[in-house]
Amino acid sequence: MERTLLIIKPDAIQRRYVGRIVTRFEEKGFQIVALKLTQIPEKVIRRHYSAHEGKPFFEPLVRYMSAQPVVLMVVRAKGAIAVARKMMGATFGANAEPGTLRGDFAISNRFNLIHGSDSPEAAEKEIALFFKPEEIHEVADAQEGIVYDLSAGERI
Ligand code: RTP
Ligand code: MG
Repeated sequence: MERTLLIIKPDAIQRRYVGRIVTRFEEKGFQIVALKLTQIPEKVIRRHYSAHEGKPFFEPLVRYMSAQPVVLMVVRAKGAIAVARKMMGATFGANAEPGTLRGDFAISNRFNLIHGSDSPEAAEKEIALFFKPEEIHEVADAQEGIVYDLSAGERI
């Protein structure tokens, strides 16, 4: 089952949106396999966003993401990476479609509530950056047969 890394960003925590955001993923059918509240050290956030190094928004992004605690989550679902990105909406709050998290709750370009991995390679790298193997709990999902049709031997 595909896994993705989500970060509920500092603005979402300040605005008391943690529960709402977690609920959206649970309601969609994602299974939470890891979750913690933590303040990410600056050097770790630099590594996480290293693809953006040198861009004008990189330093303010590092400051914003390392100044306050965030919620880190690993969730899994069929097509988790693309589905999560779709649920998040476009990067800039003002451009994000209504019905998405950013479209409903963000107006800023930077304070956009949530991060989600953008490829399978990024997901596995980011999960390993933020979680020790023993912090990830991949227990059997009791709801799997209700969330998916498993009768043909695959998740439909
Ligand atoms: P993320 O990595 O956080 O999931 O967001 P994303 O893929 O939708 O957007 P990305 O291009 O990777 O940008 C990373 C984060 O940097 C901030 N940002 N600020 N022009 C700007 O001021 C600007 N552009 C991007 C946002 O917080 C964005 O989520
Ligand atoms: Mg990104």
